[in-house]
Parts: sequence; structure tokens; C-alpha cells
Amino acid sequence: MTQKADKEPRGDLCIRTLAMPADTNANGDIFGGWLLSQMDVGGGVFASKVAKSRTVTVAIEAMNFRKAVYVGDLVSVYANLVRVGRTSLTVHLEAWALRRGEEHPFPVTDGNFTYVSIDEHGRPQEVRSTDTQIAT
Ligand SMILES: CC(C)(COP(=O)(O)OP(=O)(O)OC[C@H]1O[C@@H](n2cnc3c(N)ncnc32)[C@H](O)[C@@H]1OP(=O)(O)O)[C@@H](O)C(=O)NCCC(=O)NCCS
Repeated sequence: MTQKADKEPRGDLCIRTLAMPADTNANGDIFGGWLLSQMDVGGGVFASKVAKSRTVTVAIEAMNFRKAVYVGDLVSVYANLVRVGRTSLTVHLEAWALRRGEEHPFPVTDGNFTYVSIDEHGRPQEVRSTDTQIAT
């Protein structure tokens, strides 16, 4: 499922970080893989909070890279829970960038990340949370 980003970010802020020179690709822009990994980390924090357990990423779908990110941009990732299965849950993640000297952030990437709740042996276990409000 692909959700189009709105004018304002929605959901839980799960990570905020600054794009640094070390995160650039050969063009001097921020590397897409860096952005994806920030989203994965933030989504994992959110998923673990919802599942009340460790989680692992099992799938990433419907990734959209909408705008380039540059060094110095403040990148914030927002999470919305879109599906809870037996052991897995899917989180829609949106990354927004705030450029130096600008007032309003804008959406740069979004995608659906699926995490699996795991036990201490790394085996899937049921999502235990009762706090599983699905975003509309
Ligand atoms: C995630 C993992 C524990 C699942 O183990 P498994 O034996 O395949 O477990 P299952 O087949 O029972 O699947 C578990 C859940 O994942 C879901 N799932 C599995 N593959 C999926 C996929 N490609 N896309 C979406 N969901 C998927 C299943 O539907 C199931 O969800 P449900 O219980 O809510 O119905 C195992 O595949 C694993 O350890 N993968 C590596 C995870 C990892 O290292 N991630 C970091 C990558 S860099």
C-alpha cells in the first residue's frame, strides 16, 4: 500500500538526525541507503514499542524517493501502524527534511516496513501489545 504524504507529517516521531557529509553518494547528495537505514532504525524502535519485544525487519515495500536530501538537512521519520498480524506488524514510515534557513519540512521518502516480533531465540512470537491502534 502506498500512502501519499500530506502537507504536515503525521504519526509518531521515531527518529531525528542530521544528514552529514559522510552520508553522501558519488553525486554529493545524501545516499538513499542511508535514508532507508534511518527509516528502518526508527521503524524498529516504533515496532518494538508496539510489540513490547525485540523485532526484526522482514520486508520493505512501496519505497518512494520523492526528493533529494542534502548535507545539513534535518531528517525526521514518522511512523503510523497500518497492520497487525499474528507475529508481524507493518508500519508506514515517512521521512521529512527541514532545510537550513527554511521554516517548513517537506516529505522526502516513504514506505511500508514489516517487522516480526521475536523471542530470545530469534523465533517469531505473537504480538503481545493491546495498544495496536491502526492509522486511518
Ligand atoms: C523474520 C523471521 C524471524 C521470520 O521467520 P519465519 O520462520 O520466516 O517466520 P514465519 O514464516 O512464521 O513468518 C513470520 C511473520 O512474518 C511474515 N512474513 C514473512 N515473510 C514476509 C514478507 N516477505 N513480507 C511480509 N511479511 C512476511 C509472515 O506473514 C508472518 O506474519 P504473521 O505471523 O503476522 O502472519 C526470519 O525470516 C528472519 O530471521 N529473517 C531475518 C531478519 C533480519 O535479519 N532482518 C534484518 C535484515 S537486514
